[in-house]
Amino acid sequence: MSQESPHQTVLLQEAVEALAIKPAGTYVDGTFGRGGHSRAILQRLGTGGRLLAFDRDPQAVAMASGETDARLLVMHERFGDLADALRRAGCAVEQGIDGVLLDIGVSSPQLDEHARGFSFRGDAPLDMRMDTTQGETAAQWLGRASEQEITEVIRNYGEERFAFQIAKKIVAARGERSVATTGELAALVRQTVRTREPGQDAATRTFQALRIHINQELEQLALVLPQAMTVLKAGGRLVVISFHSLEDRIVKRFLRDEAAPDRLPRKLPLRAADLPPPRLRLIGKPVRASAAEIAANPRARSAIMRVAEKLARKAA
Ligand SMILES: C[S@@+](CC[C@H](N)C(=O)[O-])C[C@H]1O[C@@H](n2cnc3c(N)ncnc32)[C@H](O)[C@@H]1O
Repeated sequence: MSQESPHQTVLLQEAVEALAIKPAGTYVDGTFGRGGHSRAILQRLGTGGRLLAFDRDPQAVAMASGETDARLLVMHERFGDLADALRRAGCAVEQGIDGVLLDIGVSSPQLDEHARGFSFRGDAPLDMRMDTTQGETAAQWLGRASEQEITEVIRNYGEERFAFQIAKKIVAARGERSVATTGELAALVRQTVRTREPGQDAATRTFQALRIHINQELEQLALVLPQAMTVLKAGGRLVVISFHSLEDRIVKRFLRDEAAPDRLPRKLPLRAADLPPPRLRLIGKPVRASAAEIAANPRARSAIMRVAEKLARKAA
């Protein structure tokens, strides 16, 4: 078919194990990508099982058209719209799902296909949208954002020390002509960032920051987690793999809060037994890729997987 670079699924067995799949269950893969996790889930599902998969990238959805398994439905949707998208797909949403998997971030084909504009290697239009059917490209945003907005995005999402200097350079450059390609942006950043981290291109942090901003990646994550709680059955599993400390922080805090009993003002005359019970139970410790997996797939290096199970709420 296409010449794209394959996506090597990260924490494949670990994630599918963590879902504790019931053969007749209904599962959601919020990040279909090239279907690595989805195919492993299907292998464990029986004939009565169902898998609803999402991807916001039309290219990922198009690649899925080759999948002929009748138990699988792949939708061009954002996982931030989880509950509504499931309803649109005719799924009995409220507490109807046995497991939700999210393997967030970008896929290898997205990163490696220069025309998508995610990579500072090569020279291509500076797009960076996962969903190429809507929204603003990185070039369009850089063409209109203020110096302060650009600084904040690069500083907050890229944790880049030279964020202000880079933003200044971008704004100065666009006085002459817009920063339209990945090559132009990378050159501009490399001129500005003088101290390089070993083994890392000077443009890495800026490109990552713009990608997170253009795709509203942290907002999508913050939106999906509470919806996962709504759609999961008691005993249903939530499995999240993230690749960035900002994402992992959101996941970690959400799970910690949901796994703690509801906090009430201190001086209320209540016994611990009177407090509403937690909604989630954490399953195991955060999981990282093994040395062997990292050796075979260096992108697995930053992956961290967290798992939780929804608890039943006793009737009042
Ligand atoms: C790391 S890849 C997933 C790879 C997949 N697990 C596999 O094994 O092939 C992440 C995928 O999630 C998609 N994605 C990222 N954010 C999304 C969102 N908010 N909604 C839907 N899909 C999203 C990306 O387009 C990309 O295809």
